[in-house]
Amino acid sequence: MQQDNVLTLGGYRYLKLSLLVVLACIILYYADTPPIRPGGGTWLGYGLGTLGAVLIVWLMMFGLRKRAYHSNMGTVRGWLSAHVYLGLSLIVIATLHAAFHFGINIHTLAYVLTLLVVFSGAWGLFGYMNIPSKMNGLLRGKTLEQSVEALTDIDTQSQRIVSSMPAEIKAAIEASSKTHFFDYPGQRLFGKPKNCATAKSVALLTSRLSVFAPSAGASSETGNAARKVIQELHALQLRRQVQLGNIREYLCLKAQTETWLMLHVPLTFALFAALGAHIFSVFFYW
Ligand code: HEM
Repeated sequence: MQQDNVLTLGGYRYLKLSLLVVLACIILYYADTPPIRPGGGTWLGYGLGTLGAVLIVWLMMFGLRKRAYHSNMGTVRGWLSAHVYLGLSLIVIATLHAAFHFGINIHTLAYVLTLLVVFSGAWGLFGYMNIPSKMNGLLRGKTLEQSVEALTDIDTQSQRIVSSMPAEIKAAIEASSKTHFFDYPGQRLFGKPKNCATAKSVALLTSRLSVFAPSAGASSETGNAARKVIQELHALQLRRQVQLGNIREYLCLKAQTETWLMLHVPLTFALFAALGAHIFSVFFYW
């Protein structure tokens, strides 16, 4: 039997609720014939505005519910499912509240911030649904610490083999063991460093392997022995490159999951401030 996820929870309970709310708003909007221009200032406009503002305050309370570990006000997963669908319904509610009138003013700022919060939420949800399994797959069931230890093991084995090799290869292996996960902190968000010493050591060993290839004439006993050592080192460095690549991707995905909330939450507070200013200006200039 397939398990419920945040989107399918309770047989799409919150999707249905949200669709019902959206449908009711659309029907009311098109059935309404106000004596003044449709917008936030009609009775329906006030109703939609109040609904949107209440929803926004409720959506903000999700942060509190997430941290209220002993709360018996429903499960966090249930709250998140409702958060996602009712959050998305705000696109329609806010657009109908504004009656498609936009300009360069505080009202439109509140509207744009609403959309930004909603879209950042959708981006986060996409990650929330996909990233954890991807992250687990990258480390093949190991923890991050265990994966880093595996790199250290490869380095110890490489150091042992390289002791009898030319200085250039020794230096490459030494640099490879010291290569950073990323060239600079911000790179963690976007991906692969350009200056990877492990990739360079793999390239160097690949070129050395071709020198010792049987077709290159190095088929003497010493040639074969040297070739075997380089092959062994090459295999170790290749393993290091793959393992390092996986750790980098894991750290990159982890940074992405942490960063989107750094966008979603501050945008939420900016929205709250803009919403306050919008409501204040509406009643102040009444
Ligand atoms: C105006 C609308 C919204 C507001 C005000 C809002 C606000 C918030 C707040 C305050 C949190 C808690 C953050 C924390 O303290 O950790 C949160 C989390 C979250 N929101 Fe929203 N949100 C909105 C819309 C959405 C939408 C439309 C989606 C998805 C389509 C969404 C997805 C999420 C997710 C996935 C989390 C994090 C869950 C977790 O960390 O477990 N949000 N949101």
